[in-house]
Amino acid sequence: MKRSNRTQSVPWISGLTAGLLLTAVWANPGQAYNSYGDGCSATGCHGDFRSSTSPKGTVFPGGKNHEMHRDSAAMATDCELCHTSPDRTPVYTGSSDGVGTVTGLGCSGCHVGPGLRKHHATKGVTACYSGGAGCHGDGTTETASAENVISPPYYGNGYTLANNPRNTAQVANTNENWSMGDFVGLDNDGNGLADLADYTVGPFRLLSVVPEGSNLRVTWLTAGGRTNTVQAAGNVSGTYTNLSSGTKILGVGLVTTNYLEVGGATKGSHFFRLKSQYP
Ligand code: HEC
Ligand code: HEC
Repeated sequence: MKRSNRTQSVPWISGLTAGLLLTAVWANPGQAYNSYGDGCSATGCHGDFRSSTSPKGTVFPGGKNHEMHRDSAAMATDCELCHTSPDRTPVYTGSSDGVGTVTGLGCSGCHVGPGLRKHHATKGVTACYSGGAGCHGDGTTETASAENVISPPYYGNGYTLANNPRNTAQVANTNENWSMGDFVGLDNDGNGLADLADYTVGPFRLLSVVPEGSNLRVTWLTAGGRTNTVQAAGNVSGTYTNLSSGTKILGVGLVTTNYLEVGGATKGSHFFRLKSQYP
């Protein structure tokens, strides 16, 4: 499991404070996930695109993944950003008819290849890389754009309302907020961290250390999905030891949380550090 570690220190001083041509390529039987029907649904991971239940527990507007992507009241994605004429199926992951001046890239117009493959590998699905169909090397040489880079070519193109992989606004029906009741969005860079839980997007900082009687309350800003540990040392470059056990931050998006160091205000000066891991 990929792990991310971030730390931050703060002192507390005691007392102060595409089309037919490509079809021939896709016909190559060595490629495992040419179309949605080939592997994405058949493996059971994402289910029928038009079914009302998500194997991932996501609640779709209009009751279906298809509707979440295409309905005018939701993402409003043009049919031809995903579909290829003359038939509605198969729906290719990497090409489609396109619309206007927009080249049809299929699903990969939003779920960009390198990040999508890394996301799957992070989740233990390695079919894209060697050992699976093996078409995309071993996964170590691919570079996916960071979560804070607007790289999906379809985003903001006028034929979909999907926009901004940072998904910083926790407002329904904008950016990557189209499913119901959550603001998780996507893990575009494939590091296993979606949007605000990703350190390139969601802040991670100590806000305050405040005495409460003989105790100290440490408050910090973080994001749901991370596991945070409060550490302390006698001097800033000293050896930090865990004060709290690793605590999974519940919820979605930005979360302000705190830890009470019992007896902390009677200990003399010491320094705090936060450690964060995922999950
Ligand atoms: C986000 C991509 C996407 C968009 C946008 C999209 N579709 Fe689809 N559509 C799919 C997928 C994926 C399937 C299921 C294909 C499969 O299971 O093989 C599908 C299936 C269908 C089917 C069923 C085909 C069959 O033979 O069973 C129809 C009809 C359809 N879409 C029509 C539309 C129309 C009309 C629009 C535009 C209003 C649209 N779709 C927009 C991805 C999309
Ligand atoms: C126009 C951009 C766009 C295109 C094209 C697109 N997607 Fe998505 N997709 C998104 C966004 C944004 C989300 C996240 C929505 C949310 O969580 O609120 C998403 C979510 C998903 C999910 C997660 C649903 C769940 O169970 O949580 C799946 C699976 C998915 N897309 C598959 C596909 C497939 C397959 C295609 C191609 C047929 C496709 N997408 C094309 C933007 C797109």
